Amino acid sequence: MTKEQTLAEINEKWKKDCKCELKKTAKQAVFGNGNPNAEIVFIGEAPGKSEDEQGIPFVGAAGKFLNEMLGEIKMSRRASIDGARHDFAKSDIYITNIVKYRPPNNRDPEPKEKEDCREWLIEELNCINPKLVIFLGRHSMNDFFSTEKISEIHGKLLVKKFTHIKCKHFFPLYHPAAALYNGGMRETLMQDFKKIPKVLEKIKQEKK
Ligand code: URA
Repeated sequence: MTKEQTLAEINEKWKKDCKCELKKTAKQAVFGNGNPNAEIVFIGEAPGKSEDEQGIPFVGAAGKFLNEMLGEIKMSRRASIDGARHDFAKSDIYITNIVKYRPPNNRDPEPKEKEDCREWLIEELNCINPKLVIFLGRHSMNDFFSTEKISEIHGKLLVKKFTHIKCKHFFPLYHPAAALYNGGMRETLMQDFKKIPKVLEKIKQEKK
């Protein structure tokens, strides 16, 4: 089976079995989107209004900003920019969220909601097995590194072997939605973002 087929199975299984209470208020599950063979997986927090309506992650204001930053490092997410949901191979990245359903009024996801979506994310991650996982924001980072502070470790490569996750390279960034209207944070996020190609190259060199 290809990774794309395995991912489709994972998503269909969890769409049925996921116990997350947010299912009751969200319009639909928002699956990860992009290239299952990508070297980089981005993990955000939870879908917002536009994502809930379209069923695709990061298609609202934060997603547009993210696409701009990807453009700066010569990467793209053509799958969602073109609206061609299954045109996976054209995307340089894969992107998903820790919580697959929109929290009402975009409130922060609660610990139980994160917990109920966690196995889904882990299966997704282990299927893709990227070289680098990039956390967008503290919720995403704290799901893996519970005691760290995003203000202290953004833009730094973290190497950690978890028992249940194949990938061991992680790179935390500020969330694009938080940085969108905060000049200082926006500048920091853009500077951190520009480090991505070198970070990825370093990981690939280590593996040789
Ligand atoms: N913010 C997120 O964390 N995820 C999305 O999908 C959209 C906005």
